[in-house]
Formats: sequence, C-alpha cells, structure tokens
Amino acid sequence: MSNPIAEQINSALLEAESKLAAATCDADVEEVRIHILGRKGLLASLSGSMGALSADERKEAGIAFNTGRSRCKELVDAALLRIKSAAKTGDRAQFDLTLPGRRQPVGRKHPVVTVIDDAVAVFRRLGFIVADGPEIEDVFHNFDALNTPAAHPSRDPGDTFYFSDGRLLRTQTSPVQIRTMENHEPPVRIVAPGRCFRRDTPDATHSMNFHQIEGLLIDRGVSLADLKSVLQMFAIEMFGQGVKIRLRPHFFPFTEPSVEYDFSCIMCNGSGCSVCKHSGWLEIAGAGVVDPNVLKNVGYDPEIWTGYAFGLGIERIAMLRYRINDIRLLYENDVRFLEQF
Ligand code: DAH
Repeated sequence: MSNPIAEQINSALLEAESKLAAATCDADVEEVRIHILGRKGLLASLSGSMGALSADERKEAGIAFNTGRSRCKELVDAALLRIKSAAKTGDRAQFDLTLPGRRQPVGRKHPVVTVIDDAVAVFRRLGFIVADGPEIEDVFHNFDALNTPAAHPSRDPGDTFYFSDGRLLRTQTSPVQIRTMENHEPPVRIVAPGRCFRRDTPDATHSMNFHQIEGLLIDRGVSLADLKSVLQMFAIEMFGQGVKIRLRPHFFPFTEPSVEYDFSCIMCNGSGCSVCKHSGWLEIAGAGVVDPNVLKNVGYDPEIWTGYAFGLGIERIAMLRYRINDIRLLYENDVRFLEQF
C-alpha cells in the first residue's frame, strides 16, 4: 500500500496491538486508547492532513480510518476484558509465588484471661458452675450480708470506691455468693470470676483493679476437709503433681474458721527463694467454712446447710505462672509485653 496515511494508521495499530497485549492494568489500556482514538490522538491529527490527498487516495485513507478505528476499539475492549478476568481468577502470572508471605500479627489471650479460663475449666471438672454478679454493688451485698462489722476498715472510703448514691465498686467477688444464694435454693456449687476494685496506691503488687475467682459450695455436712481437698486438686491441676498446699489460720468476717491458702513455691519447690521471700510458700487465696450468719442473711437454715467458700487472686497466680514481677505490666497493654504469652 502506497497511501502514506493508511500506512501510518496500520503501523500505529500494530504498535497498539503489542502494547495492549502487554498491558497489565486499565490505565495501560487507556493510554493506548488516548494515543490513537483520543481527541488529540493519531487519528484526529491525521484526519487534518486529508486535504492534501488526491480523490483516490482520500477514499483509500477513509477506509483505513474506519477499519483502524473499529479495530482499535476491538483491541481495547479485548484488553480490558482480559485484565478484568485475570484479576478475578488471580492470574498466577501477576504474582511472584516464590516471595515469602507477609505475616499478619495474631491476637492472643491476655495472661489474666488465660488463668481465669484455665482455673474455671478445673472447677468445672470438679462440678462447679459459673456464676456472675455486678461490678457496681451495694453496701448490703459487698459488706453487710457478708457479716462484715460496721466498723470494719475495708468499708472505709479510703479503701473502697463509693458513688455519691452510696453504691460502690465491689472490693471482692464475695458478693456473688450472696446474690447466688438469694436466687437459688441449696445445694449450691459455683465459681465466680470477675474484676474487683480497691483504693490502693499502685505498686509492684497492688493495682486499683484486679481479678478474683470466688468459690462457694453449700450442701449438707460440708467440712473444712472438703475445702482442703478441692483446693489441693486445684493446685495440682494448675501447677502439677509436685505442688503442696498449706492452710494457715486467718480471719474473714464471712467464714468461720477462716484460712489462708498457700502453695509451695513453684520457683524453688519450697527450698526458699526471692519470689517466696525465702519462706518456701506463696499465698494464693482466702477461704473458710461459711459463717452461719451469712447463711441466715440469705434465708438458709444453718442447722441444715453448711458450706465452704474461697477467693483466689488471679493476678497472683498469673504472676507466678509467667514469672511477672510487677502487676502493673498486666494493665499497661504494651504489645511488646503481651505478645510474649
Ligand atoms: N474476699 C476475700 C478478699 O477479698 C477473699 C476470700 C476469703 C473469699 C475467704 C472467700 C473466703 O470466699 O471464704 O480478700
């Protein structure tokens, strides 16, 4: 073909064809389309020079224009379709399958939650069911019904957070004992994990909020020996066969007798180290036989019903298990700390 315009159109089409075949995105295709079909594109500029042609040449060029325009549109549409379906099927050619994958950071349980879950699982196997109670409590459930004397220091506004209406942030999970017994006839066998609040100055072993697991068992003929066996099983389940337990006499208003419950130190196996302050023992919980006054306060007959209760310190157990030396680390939410568990 000797027609210069037709020749230019044909060679531009060839070039466009190879560019479109290599196009990997819509923008690549659009670039080619504008170059040929755009308002200032090749076809538009060539049509300006048609006047210089003879009548025959103009006819030939006209045909080249028409076929060139429709061919170019076809190529553009085909390229767009190819790119779209490649994106849908994830055309392998577009990915380098040999690159290492990008790891997404994975969330994990907070150590406090892990300890609660593990402890609750142990008590469930021992036949306890999970009970719950409010974090905002009233004085009756947090203190009065638990046989706490009116002058007991724990009631002091210096130790307990009160609201202006007289309610308070519960200082212990023990009020869940009362709420459960108010709503259920005996026998009762519950554990109640939850958050507690005290007006403590934060330091390595004190936090204004912390967690406990309350336990309560009410039945006929329950004794301190039953309490001891369940706490022993709990210790072994949590820390393994080697752990020993010890009960020490103590005082709590809601139990009589009351005890504190120690594990043999899991760091030194009882031989003495800095974690157990060279005593060989670690204090884990308060516990005791439910005081008859508490039973009376919820309308249970203490001549028929007996029981035991305990309150475990969750942070205490978490700090021992994971060798954490400052309780505040558990509440700072520093990802560098949390991702170690
Ligand atoms: N509520 C007590 C505390 O916060 C712990 C406790 C002691 C709970 C003896 C009990 C118990 O259920 O029987 O220190």
